[in-house]
Parts: sequence; C-alpha cells; structure tokens
Amino acid sequence: MTYSLRPVTRAELPTFHTVMMAAGMDSRSSWSRTTVADLERSLFGVGAGGFLAWAGAEAVGCVGFRPDGSHTLTLNKLATLPDARGQGVGAALVGAVEELATEQGFERVLLAVSQFNLEVIPFYERLGYRQDSAAVYAHASPQSPAPVVLVKPVISTTTEVFL
Ligand SMILES: CC(C)(COP(=O)(O)OP(=O)(O)OC[C@H]1O[C@@H](n2cnc3c(N)ncnc32)[C@H](O)[C@@H]1OP(=O)(O)O)[C@@H](O)C(=O)NCCC(=O)NCCS
Repeated sequence: MTYSLRPVTRAELPTFHTVMMAAGMDSRSSWSRTTVADLERSLFGVGAGGFLAWAGAEAVGCVGFRPDGSHTLTLNKLATLPDARGQGVGAALVGAVEELATEQGFERVLLAVSQFNLEVIPFYERLGYRQDSAAVYAHASPQSPAPVVLVKPVISTTTEVFL
C-alpha cells in the first residue's frame, strides 16, 4: 500500500473522526466518546494539529498533537484502519509528530495510553518511548482512570551548534 501523510484540514475533521472510531477502541475509554466538535477544539487549538495518512482517496490513519508548555509536545488520537495495519502507517504518523517536535524546538514527545488499551504499549516502546511514572499528561480525561504516560526525548534542530 502506498500512502502519504498530510496535515488535517477543518473540512477533513469528519474523516479524521471516522478513522478514529474505526480503530476498535474499548468502549469504556474516553476515545469512544470523542465528537467532531471535540476534535475541532483539540486539533485546532493554539500550536495543535494533526495528520491524516491517505492511500489514494481513502484516509487510513490519523494522529493529533498539542503542546503542553514549550518543552513537551503531546501526541494523541493515533489510529490506523484495521485493514491497513502492519504496513508502517502508525510508525510514520508517530514519526511525523516527532519531526514537527524537533523542528519546533520541543524537547520531548509525550503520550498517554488508556488503562483499557495497555496492549499498545509495546508498539510505542519499539519506537523508543519509555514509561515515565513521574510524567503527567496534561490533557487527560478527568472521567477516566489515570493513563500510563510514555515519553521520548527528541533532538531539537533549532539548537545552534558552535564549532
Ligand atoms: C497502534 C496502531 C496505530 C499501530 O498502527 P500500524 O499502522 O499497524 O503500525 P505499524 O505498521 O507502523 O507498526 C510499527 C511496528 O510496530 C509493530 N506493532 C504494531 N502494533 C503493535 C502492538 N500492538 N504491539 C507491539 N508491536 C506492534 C508492528 O509490527 C511494526 O513492527 P516492525 O517495524 O517490526 O514491522 C494500530 O494498531 C491502531 O490503530 N490501534 C488501535 C488504536 C490505538 O490503540 N491507538 C493508540 C492510542 S494510545
């Protein structure tokens, strides 16, 4: 499957929502209650955004990001359609957020895994994320059990190097 990543536009929010809802997440997680209006608030806040992965005219994956202060970029709403899994789309979406984080001078990417979705943790660990019990996910749903927080340092490309 050939695919490309593009920043999500407001007009594509319903498409983003469809990809999210097709992910098959546990119905107890706050993910399942996310509306298109929630997405608009989350993905179009200050410094926030998202990417869709397109295979031709079909959106097959999505991811969002939001800053938490000037050092941390949080990653959220990562999903690949079940039929498109295992082909690198999820890793590419995570990589797109990391690239943006380095370009914008953040020090780390931080994400939260729901207690109802712990089986995804090895996916992130393979990509270099580590559990950090001291780290806090600023955008956690107050109605949900505390998530597992994972963090990956990123190297800023905006740092000047003096030789
Ligand atoms: C997690 C998810 C996005 C992965 O998407 P994907 O497109 O299948 O991921 P990739 O194909 O890029 O996989 C990258 C690597 O991770 C591995 N991997 C994928 N899912 C994994 C899992 N659950 N556990 C361990 N490894 C996993 C792949 O085998 C691949 O390994 P490789 O590089 O050796 O080939 C997808 O399974 C999904 O949408 N799950 C439901 C939604 C979800 O849980 N989102 C995360 C919210 S925190």
